[in-house]
Amino acid sequence: MLPINVLALALLAPGAISTPLQPGRRQTSLSSFIQSESSVALQGVLDNIGANGSKVSGASSGIVVASPSKVNPDYFYTWTRDGALTLKALIDAFIAGDSSLESTIQEYIDAQAQLQAVSNPSGDLSDGSGLGEPKFEVNITAFTGDWGRPQRDGPALRATALIAYGNHLVSAGETSTVKSNIWPIVQNDLNYVAQYWNQTGFDLWEEIEGSSFFTIAAQHRALVEGSAFASSLDESCTGCDSQAPQLLCFLQDFWNGTAVISNLANDGRSGLDANSLISTIQAFDPEAACDDTTFQPCSERALSNHKLVVDSFRSLYSINSGKSAGSAVAIGRYAEDTYQGGNPWYLATLAAAEQLYDALYQWDKQGSLSIGQTSLPFFQALDSSTATGNYSSSSSTYSSLTSAVKTYADGFVSIVQQYTPSNGSLAEQFTRDDGTPTSAGDLTWSYAAFLTAGDRRSGTVPSSWGSSTANEVPSQCSGSSASGSYSTPSVGSW
Ligand SMILES: *[C@@H]1O[C@H](CO)[C@@H](O)[C@H](O)[C@H]1NC(C)=O
Ligand SMILES: *[C@@H]1O[C@H](CO)[C@@H](O)[C@H](O)[C@H]1NC(C)=O
Ligand SMILES: *[C@@H]1O[C@H](CO)[C@@H](O)[C@H](O)[C@H]1NC(C)=O
Ligand SMILES: *[C@@H]1O[C@H](CO)[C@@H](O)[C@H](O)[C@H]1NC(C)=O
Ligand SMILES: *[C@@H]1O[C@H](CO)[C@@H](O)[C@H](O)[C@H]1NC(C)=O
Ligand SMILES: *[C@@H]1O[C@H](CO)[C@@H](O)[C@H](O)[C@H]1NC(C)=O
Repeated sequence: MLPINVLALALLAPGAISTPLQPGRRQTSLSSFIQSESSVALQGVLDNIGANGSKVSGASSGIVVASPSKVNPDYFYTWTRDGALTLKALIDAFIAGDSSLESTIQEYIDAQAQLQAVSNPSGDLSDGSGLGEPKFEVNITAFTGDWGRPQRDGPALRATALIAYGNHLVSAGETSTVKSNIWPIVQNDLNYVAQYWNQTGFDLWEEIEGSSFFTIAAQHRALVEGSAFASSLDESCTGCDSQAPQLLCFLQDFWNGTAVISNLANDGRSGLDANSLISTIQAFDPEAACDDTTFQPCSERALSNHKLVVDSFRSLYSINSGKSAGSAVAIGRYAEDTYQGGNPWYLATLAAAEQLYDALYQWDKQGSLSIGQTSLPFFQALDSSTATGNYSSSSSTYSSLTSAVKTYADGFVSIVQQYTPSNGSLAEQFTRDDGTPTSAGDLTWSYAAFLTAGDRRSGTVPSSWGSSTANEVPSQCSGSSASGSYSTPSVGSW
């Protein structure tokens, strides 16, 4: 059934969408896939978290293993980034009502309290440098082999995850638990960001040493919400307040007028990279307007970039052949990629969908959709008759365009559906030639990406991170740093 549906999508040539599509079999079938696959994905995440996860025997309590795969590739480690993104998804699901996840969340936090104190090849906790270590052994000891280190996104992402749970506990009146079990970990991570953001590091794909858009975007967000979190605990984060505007300032440097250049480094690449799609979903704030400065999913910049990134994969992979502009395709990390075959990734294809679900949420919330010259090509690929303007949600143009965006977003998830094996397992990649799952199997981040994309599609969104208080770019950027202090967190009792 699916190939026919995908064919139907491919036939939606630009201009063909003049009236809203009626929900039909394709939608029903995609929805039921999302429902069943979300259960597989949640179990897939839990199976990869120690000590009880069924696929990661040997991992300590609360340790998120990247994948059970131990050879070609060996991912049997815990990465700060993957773990934090995964736990943010679980914490949001917990807050949305799945109370069964709370002990996993608490075990994760306890494991982070231990990990922060582990001296490692990036350094140690005395000056914070050890917090930039990208990965550890699953028994909470240092990984001492060669690696692309440091990676400065990890502390920011972990702070964002812990703040989400901390805010929830504060509103439930459990401030003292937050102060003893969460704040000391978050404080170290925020101080790390404020101190080291203006130094180079490796990107989220662990290949490029330079400045990564994803890292700066994640760090900006963490400092903004970190400041408010500190205040809610009668604590302070002076480095958050002094550095956040400078991070926002630097973030603008990655924009070239039509796209995000994902790494500022001498890397010989075009700059178009799923890094930027994952950044916009990390920056998503359900209370925000379509701000360009923070690259909100519905911003003109993020939409223009979405089109250029997606189009960079359109003619790259055989499995994308015949899919014209405005129809979804399989997405990889970046066009020049050769790692493990340089194939499409499930989490990158899902990020392309998730950005658009986020944008639909934002337009719906503000009751209008505004199109200027920057985002016009994105919309014209969906409907060639689109003109610039501000369309109120009561207009037919708004209905037809948002419906086209929804169909387009669903197209990316349909591609994931097409290349997901019948048991629902999600590897890291699927081959560019025929879509066979490849590289590490049961990738935790693939499952987490499925969960968040499914939630955004159904309108379940995380809390605001306060972006509207932090979207004004200083008139002049300056390189800076705030030195912070670090202390060993204790493992709390809950
Ligand atoms: C893991 O198993 C132990 C021992 O049965 C239990 O105490 C703990 O709550 C479990 N953790 C999770 C997250 O279920
Ligand atoms: C932790 O795991 C590493 C890698 O498997 C192993 O070399 C080391 O001996 C373990 N350390 C402890 C304390 O168990
Ligand atoms: C921005 O960068 C992208 C990717 O390298 C390129 O395709 C595009 O033409 C650039 N835009 C401008 C205005 O330079
Ligand atoms: C679009 O119109 C709405 C409703 O009139 C208004 O609130 C909004 O500010 C306008 N947006 C832009 C970008 O002009
Ligand atoms: C699920 O299917 C994939 C692809 O056929 C396979 O590699 C994997 O081992 C299966 N997983 C389980 C738990 O059966
Ligand atoms: C430090 O910040 C300045 C000002 O934004 C910027 O020009 C420079 O590239 C940054 N360097 C690094 C390594 O972040």
